[in-house]
Amino acid sequence: MVRIPEATVDDIRQNADIVEVISQYLQLRKSGQNHFAHCPFHEDKTPSFSVNERKQLFHCFSCGRGGNVFNFIREIDGLTYPEAIVKTAELVHYPLDQAMVSQVLNQQTTGDSTTGKLYSINKLAKEFYHHVLMYTEIGKPALDYLLARGLTEETLIEFEIGFSPAQRNALYLYLKSQDEHEFETDIYQKSGLFSENKNPEENEFLDRFTKRIIFPIHNERGHAIGFSGRVFEENQNDSFVQAKYLNTPETSLFNKSKILYNFDQAKASIRREKEAVFFEGYMDVIAAWQAGIKNGIASMGTSLTENQVQMVDRFSDHIVLAFDGDDAGKEAIKRSVDYLSQNTHFTIEIISFPAGLDPDDYIQKHGPEEFRNLLEHGRDTHMSFLMDYHRRNVNISNESEQIQYIEAILKELTQVDSLVEREIYFKQLADEFSLSMDTLESQFETVMQEVQNRQLAEYKEERRRTKYQERLPEVSYQNKANYSLLERAERMLLNRLFYHEEAWIYLARQAADFHFRSEDFQLIYILFEAYREKDFDRTDTEGFLDYLQEDDLKQIVAEVFLIELGELTENEIEDYVEVIRNVSPVQENLADKLDELKEAQRSGNKGQQTKLAIEIINLNKKLKNK
Ligand code: UTP
Ligand code: MN
Repeated sequence: MVRIPEATVDDIRQNADIVEVISQYLQLRKSGQNHFAHCPFHEDKTPSFSVNERKQLFHCFSCGRGGNVFNFIREIDGLTYPEAIVKTAELVHYPLDQAMVSQVLNQQTTGDSTTGKLYSINKLAKEFYHHVLMYTEIGKPALDYLLARGLTEETLIEFEIGFSPAQRNALYLYLKSQDEHEFETDIYQKSGLFSENKNPEENEFLDRFTKRIIFPIHNERGHAIGFSGRVFEENQNDSFVQAKYLNTPETSLFNKSKILYNFDQAKASIRREKEAVFFEGYMDVIAAWQAGIKNGIASMGTSLTENQVQMVDRFSDHIVLAFDGDDAGKEAIKRSVDYLSQNTHFTIEIISFPAGLDPDDYIQKHGPEEFRNLLEHGRDTHMSFLMDYHRRNVNISNESEQIQYIEAILKELTQVDSLVEREIYFKQLADEFSLSMDTLESQFETVMQEVQNRQLAEYKEERRRTKYQERLPEVSYQNKANYSLLERAERMLLNRLFYHEEAWIYLARQAADFHFRSEDFQLIYILFEAYREKDFDRTDTEGFLDYLQEDDLKQIVAEVFLIELGELTENEIEDYVEVIRNVSPVQENLADKLDELKEAQRSGNKGQQTKLAIEIINLNKKLKNK
């Protein structure tokens, strides 16, 4: 193993300002001592990710992730620890010995591990298919076809597109001929590139892909991890109908729900443009790229997943959906719009292509310039898309269909939190159907009431399930009564940790991965643990104050020392841990808002009810993302 010397690692850390490094990934906003952003590691609607310049640490209040600059790079780029150190050095232009760098990086990807070998075999397969397409007679018809579809050679090379020959062991023989690699049998099996020969005598593998145009699929770091093969019409006399696209099956590298096609190449542009353009197909992504749209990505022929959305979230907060103009395309947009608007903080726009044309067809028909033009100026907001969507198949002159339509729109509007935006659509509906704004608004309140009732029912159910709240011992906080449940639990647990060995035993045995949610508390916890290990004398817990360097931490500790909790009771520590782990600020906020809503319902304040209901809907959305 090649290792980066400890002193070099320290030196890199000291030269890599965490705020500067993280700024290259996230849009940080300074507030007080800290810099804040949406946490890139989970769906995060309020910015709970903070970076502390002085301490050179990051911490997410919501998911609890935290650490130093290397931990950040490691997590966000999906790197190993040594890779993260090298990457950090690159980001801050720290000069590293290149020989060492390439040794460190090579052992990660082409090392002896199974994973390393799977990367190697995929890379060789990609090179083989690409070579067949570009430079052989066998590949010529497919090459001509792709060129006739308007792709340039340069694009084919950029996307490393390939062709798999008809011969059923072409790839297998090629890999066997690559002497220096000698993959074990299980690497062939695990690669997803082969099916095993039914004839056991032959002890051979058959290629999974034959007679297909091959699109290599890369992970975020640009390593090939699998393939999608499109049927190529040349030899269509097979007796069964083949799927148009055949993918690598799920392997340890290839998990469809975590992959976005072209993400490795697009992410820089996604960050720059502050938006990601979602297409439905690989061909759309590639044609758009060739037409100058470099922030295009696609899922692997499935609906959007949380994983994929999180990948994009690290680089932008805006998604443009550019799907086909046909009915299936519209349904796919509707699904994505519902998913994104109910579960994420992304803002959305929709490009509507003429029916029957997918983006790639559109480029072929109208040229790259008109395509770019449509992408820039042909955008619908998410509400105007939904209005069109519900409008399909509705006969507006039929009164009952008209009412259904209006109700559908009002229901969609309960998801819109901007008052101004809602007013615009009320006005539009009022004009179109000659209704008064008052009528619409009171109808909206009725719809909202239904939504509210559902929310209340869901919340009660949630409460019933989380009975731990009742078990939390009541503590009189004298003049500090306004701490939230979470804050109280953190303070009380820290107090117990200061004075009771039982608390440490419980954490060690039952909650080894425990961490405090507040950055300061977590830091105090870690420091106190270190203090205990040095020269701790249980009768002198207060000596910890001298050990601490920082005034704001001292202040917290001093306050926590003073809490009077009485005897330690049986489930007490467990209760704190439960609360700290499970109660989110969102839940607490939600509880407050629901109380306010009940109050507003009692006093009959309609405006206040609507405002609260919308806030509650948004909090509930957030909760579902946890
Ligand atoms: P399309 O059928 O629209 O194909 O599927 P396309 O991308 O426009 O390809 P061309 O223009 O006919 O060459 C769109 C996407 O749906 C997924 C693929 O991801 C494809 O890119 N798909 C489609 C599959 O996964 N399997 C299939 O059998 C078909
Ligand atoms: Mn197409």
